[in-house]
Amino acid sequence: MEIRAFFDEQTWTLTYVVHAGRVAVVIDPVRNYDPKSGRTSWRSSEEVAAYLAQEKLTVPYVVDTHAHADHMTGIPFFKDRYGAKSVTGARIGEIQRVFRDVYDLGDAFPVDGRPFDVLIDEGMRLEFGSLALEAMHTPGHTPAHMSWKIGDAVFLGDTLFMPDYGSARCDFPGGSAATLFDSIQRLYALPDATRLFVCHDYLPGGRPLAYQTTVGEQKRQNVQIDARTTREQYVAFREKKDAELDAPALILPSIQVNIRAGELPEPAANGIAYLKIPLDAFGGGCGR
Ligand SMILES: [Fe+2]
Repeated sequence: MEIRAFFDEQTWTLTYVVHAGRVAVVIDPVRNYDPKSGRTSWRSSEEVAAYLAQEKLTVPYVVDTHAHADHMTGIPFFKDRYGAKSVTGARIGEIQRVFRDVYDLGDAFPVDGRPFDVLIDEGMRLEFGSLALEAMHTPGHTPAHMSWKIGDAVFLGDTLFMPDYGSARCDFPGGSAATLFDSIQRLYALPDATRLFVCHDYLPGGRPLAYQTTVGEQKRQNVQIDARTTREQYVAFREKKDAELDAPALILPSIQVNIRAGELPEPAANGIAYLKIPLDAFGGGCGR
C-alpha cells in the first residue's frame, strides 16, 4: 500500500492519496480560496493530479472525513476529472440541516446527504483495487465525522493531531468534547503499531511538517490526551480551551460549499456566484 501526502500551506491541510496497484482513493482534497480577492483555484488539487498522472492511477472514490470548517473541499475536481464518486459520513445530513438554516438555503436544499454520491457509516467497507476503506464513526469535532481505516493505517480527519499539538476543537454545532474523548478511546483501542495520519499540521514551534504517527505514540505523548487522561480531565481542558479560540478564518465561506460536496453556489443572473456571510449568527451583534 502506497500513501502519499500533500500539504496545503494556506490551510495547513493534508490531502492523502492511498493506492495499491493502479487504483487510488483521495482523502480530504482542497479547493484553494483567497478570501481577499474571492478567487478560487485548483492549485492544491492539481498537485495531487500530477502524482496521479505520474503513477497512472484511477480514482473511483474521493473522500471527505467531515464537512471542513477551514477550507473548501476539492471533491468536485476529482469527480470531474476522474469520475470519482464522492464519499462522506452517513450523518452529514445533520450538518446540512443545521447549516441550511444558518445560511437560509431554503427548503429545497437537501438534508439527506445529497449531493454526496456515497454515504457510509460505522463498520461499512468500500473496496477499491485490492484495498478496502473501512469506516469508523468518530464524532466529537462534528457529529458526522468519520475516520477511515485502510489496512494498518487510519486517516484521522479532525480527531487527533500530531502528539505535540493535541486534538480537534469541539465547539462547532453538534460538537462535544465528551464525545470526542470516546472516539479517541476507540482509536486508542487499535493496536499500538497502527499508523495514524493527521488531516492538519500546524507546525507548532516552527518544527518541520509532520503528519504520521502511531496509536502507541499518541497514547504515550499526546499533549492533550494521552492514555492516562480521564474523560473529566479532557472535557474540562477542551471546553476551556475552545472558549478561548477564534472561529477559523474560512469557516463561513467553507461550510456552505462543503455541505454541497464542494459545489459552489449557483451563479446569479450576472453569471457570478456569491457566498453568503451570516451576521451575528454565532453571537455578537451591535444592533443597527
Ligand atoms: Fe475540521
